[in-house]
Amino acid sequence: MQPPKSQVKATLLRNSCIKGDYFCAELQMEAIPQNALPGQFIHVQIPDLSHRVLRRPFSIFNVEKDTLSLLYKVVGEGTRQLSALAPGKELDIVGPLGCPFSPLPDKSIIVAGGYGCAATFLLAKNAPVKPLVLIGGRSKEDILLKKEYEALGCEVRVSTDDGSMGLKGRVTQLLQQAVNGQNWLAACGPIPMLKALADLMPSLNLKGELSLDKAMCCGVGACFACVTKVKDTSSPDGWRYARVCAEGPVFNAEELIF
Ligand SMILES: Cc1cc2nc3c(=O)[nH]c(=O)nc-3n(C[C@H](O)[C@H](O)[C@H](O)COP(=O)(O)OP(=O)(O)OC[C@H]3O[C@@H](n4cnc5c(N)ncnc54)[C@H](O)[C@@H]3O)c2cc1C
Ligand code: FES
Repeated sequence: MQPPKSQVKATLLRNSCIKGDYFCAELQMEAIPQNALPGQFIHVQIPDLSHRVLRRPFSIFNVEKDTLSLLYKVVGEGTRQLSALAPGKELDIVGPLGCPFSPLPDKSIIVAGGYGCAATFLLAKNAPVKPLVLIGGRSKEDILLKKEYEALGCEVRVSTDDGSMGLKGRVTQLLQQAVNGQNWLAACGPIPMLKALADLMPSLNLKGELSLDKAMCCGVGACFACVTKVKDTSSPDGWRYARVCAEGPVFNAEELIF
């Protein structure tokens, strides 16, 4: 069962650039950190965004007592505004939202692309037997949280498209080299990466879950802005649209139609 969601006022404790366009924010708030499960997200009302009212979704990267951390990339107006906020600022937050990852079985692999490594961090943190973690990015500037996953006790391997760190190539190549008896995979990253993983997983005898990053409006299942195609044997066409915010963002890999 999903934990109850809350709407709370959060205080920004820290908000700093960790690398290039990537920032880490630490927020103090009631209820949400205690209820958050790995893979869930929060919907953030960014203050002072005068003409744009929609909340922005961010994965819950980490929680400690009453604090919750986000790892985010500046890609547009909302994230740019978020990156400019100073500690002490108050933000309106709704969460935790969405369906979480299943707990990891003993022989697991996490695959993360870019800021997708934020969505899978709590999953690795909670796992009694630590997963092998594969992190992919365009260049070394996009490889995040390697040390943090290692500090949890995970073995971490890296690939970059330009070869500036780890294996030169795609994270799917890294996965093909790395699989060694694991039977479960959990992943978050750009849609093309998730599609490539879903295509590859059957040949590597891997089952698992993928967390989708889709643009959202309401974030609570009311507007259908975030839909994705999933298999449905009860539908005449064999598929239906699922709302990523409410039925995901985590889906069984076998269920998704890319
Ligand atoms: C469940 C979920 C979890 C997420 N977790 C994180 C996270 O942990 N860290 C993080 O940095 N981002 C995360 N995102 C993406 C984040 O929500 C968007 O980057 C953000 O809303 C962009 O806001 P903006 O106003 O800066 O950009 P906008 O001005 O709205 O858009 C700028 C550009 O970004 C694109 N964009 C907007 N939303 C998304 C999206 N959801 N996915 C891909 N491209 C998008 C737009 O098409 C446009 O090209 C997550 C999204 C979802 C749905
Ligand atoms: S964002 Fe409104 S239904 Fe998902």
